[in-house]
Amino acid sequence: MSTPPASSSETSPSPASTTWWRDAVIYQVYPRSFADGDGDGIGDLPGITARLDHLAGLGVDAVWLSPFYTSPMADAGYDVADYRDVDPLFGTLADADRLIERAHALGLRVIVDLVPNHTSDQHAWFRAALTAGPGSPERERYIFRDGRGPDGAEPPNNWKSVFGGPAWTRVTEPDGTLGQWYLHLFDSGQPDLDWNHPEVRAEFLDVLRFWLDRGVDGFRVDVANGLVKAEGLPDWDEELALLSGATEDGPTPPMWDRDEVHEIYREWRTVLDSYEPAGSRMMVAEAWVEPPSRLAMYVRPDEMHQAFNFTYLGAAWEAPALRDAVDRSMSANEAVGAPTTWVLSNHDVVRHASRLGTGKPGSFVGIGLGPDDPQPDAELGLRRARAATALMLALPGSAYLYQGEELGLPEHTTLPDEAREDPTFHRHNGQVVGRDGCRVPIPWVADAPAYGFSPTGESWLPQPPEFGELAVDRQEGVEGSTLELYRRAIRLRRELGLGQGELRWDPTLGSDDVLAMRRSTPLGEVLVLTNLAPDPVAVPDGVRVVLSTEDGPHPERELARTGTIATDVTIWALLD
Ligand code: GLC
Ligand code: MG
Repeated sequence: MSTPPASSSETSPSPASTTWWRDAVIYQVYPRSFADGDGDGIGDLPGITARLDHLAGLGVDAVWLSPFYTSPMADAGYDVADYRDVDPLFGTLADADRLIERAHALGLRVIVDLVPNHTSDQHAWFRAALTAGPGSPERERYIFRDGRGPDGAEPPNNWKSVFGGPAWTRVTEPDGTLGQWYLHLFDSGQPDLDWNHPEVRAEFLDVLRFWLDRGVDGFRVDVANGLVKAEGLPDWDEELALLSGATEDGPTPPMWDRDEVHEIYREWRTVLDSYEPAGSRMMVAEAWVEPPSRLAMYVRPDEMHQAFNFTYLGAAWEAPALRDAVDRSMSANEAVGAPTTWVLSNHDVVRHASRLGTGKPGSFVGIGLGPDDPQPDAELGLRRARAATALMLALPGSAYLYQGEELGLPEHTTLPDEAREDPTFHRHNGQVVGRDGCRVPIPWVADAPAYGFSPTGESWLPQPPEFGELAVDRQEGVEGSTLELYRRAIRLRRELGLGQGELRWDPTLGSDDVLAMRRSTPLGEVLVLTNLAPDPVAVPDGVRVVLSTEDGPHPERELARTGTIATDVTIWALLD
């Protein structure tokens, strides 16, 4: 094991800005698909470190790394067997230290993923629980129960796994008989921890310190709404769509969003706040919770700093729906003084360049898009994706990007079944394609094997041919390319201070199919307009367009020439 940096504040990018996260643009790296350093076809930490320049060039503030810890990979690393080590597939702890150091040297903060709801079934605690048998203290860290029915042959309750099939698996006891059942809201390789157990609580406080001591700037907290289950584990008859939470008026599921989870985050917050410079370490909740007012409870002043705002991700590509998602998110967060977050893509949903090219641009959480589904219109999807991103980057708060979206990557909708690894696919017997299509390794170099993802040309999931034209080297320096659009938007966002300040809808320019907002930032006044109407709309008088998502070279000049904003285009304009 290598020595962690002596003083983490020394390596922090800009110690002065302790609330950097309030308006940060944060880039999600999915380690197995970002860049493969050793040529085994699986992305790894040295691969990421070697490509961090790409993120610095994009202008983002931070990188969030999906799990890279020791794992048997039953759920691509979201099944952690050792929270304090790196899986050999991804490298070593020394590689993690080097990554953090290089990121900090480039001015990038580093957020790591924390998976507290469940461990892997290969975690030392779970193995000990199996060996120790029923009634042992080892079993109390998890949720073991006797089955129902005469022989205990029925699961303890009727809960279903988010990934399909039952949420309980029966174990064989040390004496060889069929015995108790354990709860797993996800795959059977992901047993749920019992968060009423003091050792579970203590363990995670220590894991937080372990990574903070190595210099990380924050944590993305996996399934933050799931840790506490209702007393007595009552039956729940509803389906569990991937991570669906409480609805505005429906009943409250016994496994999601229990009030008691908040105590846990208050305790974590005190740990984060004890690191220097005070207030600079952050947590972001992954919590699929509705309505936004319930989600806002996770970001009260003494809890987490941010929560992913999936209301916006799930909104249809229609002006009223988008306006409503923005308004509801903003007002819920303002009530607790927390910044709102915005996200369009991640490793669990169909990429927005494809989602928005379908008739139903909802969120497609967890279910994916397969060869038998109606195929998205790639051109329309990308056009809308660019407009959606420019709208997102103009909103106050913090924005999350998912690797490859800056290239306009589509979902891989025609992966062969043999290639699929997502447990969602297997636990649904192939009836749901799952999430592999958004996890395909990203293209760096059009003419290289595996499009430059891996030096040997290996790739754990096959890449579709469309990836060639979208490779980084094909877009770099090409005016109007999606990559250059992202760079420009991120730079302007910072220069114009768009991450902060007020938002007002413009009632004159806006309509049922035009979104028009005025942003007053500490640095000026900006008009942001997205045209969702079937026909072009006129560029308002007295403005100077500084960004347009129209493709082709010099889109801003083109716009000045025609005087109109085409369908599915977003512009940013300064008021003269
Ligand atoms: C989160 C992750 C997802 C994972 C699940 C179980 O939703 O984003 O990828 O499968 O938690 O850990
Ligand atoms: Mg590798």
